[in-house]
Amino acid sequence: MPDIDNVQSGKAYGIGTPQCSDGFYLKGSAHLDWGMKSRLAQVFSPKSGNTVMLAFDHGYIMGPTSGLERMDLTIVPLIEYADCIMCTRGALRSIVPPTCGKPLSLRYSAGSSILTYLNDECIMDIDEAVRVNAALLAVMVAVGDQKHEALTIRNLTQTVDLGTKYSIPTMGVTAVGKELVRDARYLSLASRICAENGAHVIKTYYCEQDFEQVTNSVPVPIVIAGGKKLPEKEALEMAYSAINDGAAGVDMGRNIFQSDCPSAMIKSVREVVHNGMKPEQAFKMYEELKQG
Ligand code: 5RP
Repeated sequence: MPDIDNVQSGKAYGIGTPQCSDGFYLKGSAHLDWGMKSRLAQVFSPKSGNTVMLAFDHGYIMGPTSGLERMDLTIVPLIEYADCIMCTRGALRSIVPPTCGKPLSLRYSAGSSILTYLNDECIMDIDEAVRVNAALLAVMVAVGDQKHEALTIRNLTQTVDLGTKYSIPTMGVTAVGKELVRDARYLSLASRICAENGAHVIKTYYCEQDFEQVTNSVPVPIVIAGGKKLPEKEALEMAYSAINDGAAGVDMGRNIFQSDCPSAMIKSVREVVHNGMKPEQAFKMYEELKQG
């Protein structure tokens, strides 16, 4: 027990040294609550400001797609190289070791599959996100989808409200859809709508033309999805160009887990995203790692 008679007056007031009041390194995040910033700092490296998220949530609409048939064999060995994992609660509980120590971007909206209407989704209980210690809530937003635009924007808004109660940030995921064109005009429209509705991070696609218009017109960090499997060199070029044009990282799935050598690929992507390695050099690194 502290003894009240022996309490000494403090002297180390640092008079003349103003208290350090740092800003926050992530775009548009300076005014967020401490808990939000803490979670974002788990996902985005405070050193580079960027992130390599490993996405393996595809099964929630696609079932056992190539590379994800046995996630215990293909995904678990890659987790150590990711800054953050993005998956469903089902994958999390069934194959991800709770000891992995990586922040979780939880697939928070679901409801349809590739066999019916994509984007006809609802969101889950926020208690579930708290239980699994989510660092980010990922919600699909289908701007321009006649049937589901309003529903998915409501899902986003509700998720932001729920996440804010517990300081869990929300990531708006701009939807895929046959009729949606992936050009800078559409991607900046969809991404900006997500940000204006409160998303703290946006996941969208890269486009070769004018991608910097997308990153510049959105006031929060953007990460790019990898999309369909490309030759490794092209995927590394895409990651490099996206970072160069202002993206804060990748949330990549198929271009990693469908690669000929997934561990070499994720390590090479890390060099591009965190250290600005040029794609030619990153591809060389990939080839060397692949040879073993
Ligand atoms: C699906 C998703 C995926 O996580 C996303 O598309 C990333 O994976 P890939 O790099 O394979 O495109 O959000 O809804």
